[in-house]
Amino acid sequence: MSKEFDRKLSEWRQNFEEILHDYLRSVRWKPAVLDESFRYSLLLGGKRIRPVLMFACAGMLGGKAVDVAEFALALEMIHTYSLIHDDLPAMDNDDFRRGQPSNHKKFGEGQAILAGDALLNEAYAVCLEACKNGRTYLDAAIYLCRNAGAGGMIAGQAADLDWQGGDAFGKNESDFIIQNKTAKLIMAAAAVPAYVYGVDENIVALMKEFGKNLGFLFQITDDILDVEGDFQKLGKTPGKDAAEDKLSSVRVYGLQKTRELADYYAGLCMKVLDELPYESGILREFVLKVRGRQK
Ligand code: IPE
Ligand code: IPE
Ligand code: MG
Ligand code: MG
Ligand code: MG
Repeated sequence: MSKEFDRKLSEWRQNFEEILHDYLRSVRWKPAVLDESFRYSLLLGGKRIRPVLMFACAGMLGGKAVDVAEFALALEMIHTYSLIHDDLPAMDNDDFRRGQPSNHKKFGEGQAILAGDALLNEAYAVCLEACKNGRTYLDAAIYLCRNAGAGGMIAGQAADLDWQGGDAFGKNESDFIIQNKTAKLIMAAAAVPAYVYGVDENIVALMKEFGKNLGFLFQITDDILDVEGDFQKLGKTPGKDAAEDKLSSVRVYGLQKTRELADYYAGLCMKVLDELPYESGILREFVLKVRGRQK
């Protein structure tokens, strides 16, 4: 990775941490347990790839992180709620997240459900605040919320659970799960800046296409890391997909073919970037970073 890329990445991460901390300073929930469980998962320190990607896409389109600050915050809050619920015993039953006990391990299942609900509702309030900036922000908010909802991330999570343990499933079902549970939020990260800036609809469509391919690459890599990854780096327990009989990429294609598929989606990301009339060096490095990630 180039020095310029590393510098940008840490600048955007820092931008995001400041936005998050400003927001957290502005709220204090009661009872105390709600406040603690809400902050706990947000501050465990995820990779922040969705907000950073949103900032990188804003930068490519000629804008700045601050233009999409609320949406980056809302997206990370929605993502964090999805992880809290994903870890519950009724879903993936995972005891660790981001290197620490999962929210329900720390606060109990009831409080974890409520922390997730609180994050989702606050994310919508943060989006509505952003909509005061005008019509293009409204378009961005609608896209983000729809991609998080019943036609997006939640659909993917429902299918992931419904098809767990089944035998008669293959590529179509796997694609449906990945496209919805993971790619839809990454598409939102990529397309929200395009909506905000009101760029041509062809560019919006290309940003969505880029996000979709990057989302597939991201989840396929997650599925590989579930087999090959290491607890210390991942911060979550490996081997869970096989243990829970998930319809993961590795189950559908086998490990070797799944690695080839990751390369294929990385290539598709680059192809979309070729079609965009912008300097896309940073996003190219972003794709390579996701392909090579160990956590
Ligand atoms: C985990 O997402 C869930 C998937 C979609 C695979 P991340 O790997 O981005 O999790 P954090 O935010 O860094 O913890
Ligand atoms: C989760 O996918 C995607 C979400 C929408 C939360 P996984 O279940 O594979 O994510 P991890 O491996 O628990 O992070
Ligand atoms: Mg899951
Ligand atoms: Mg999981
Ligand atoms: Mg996983």
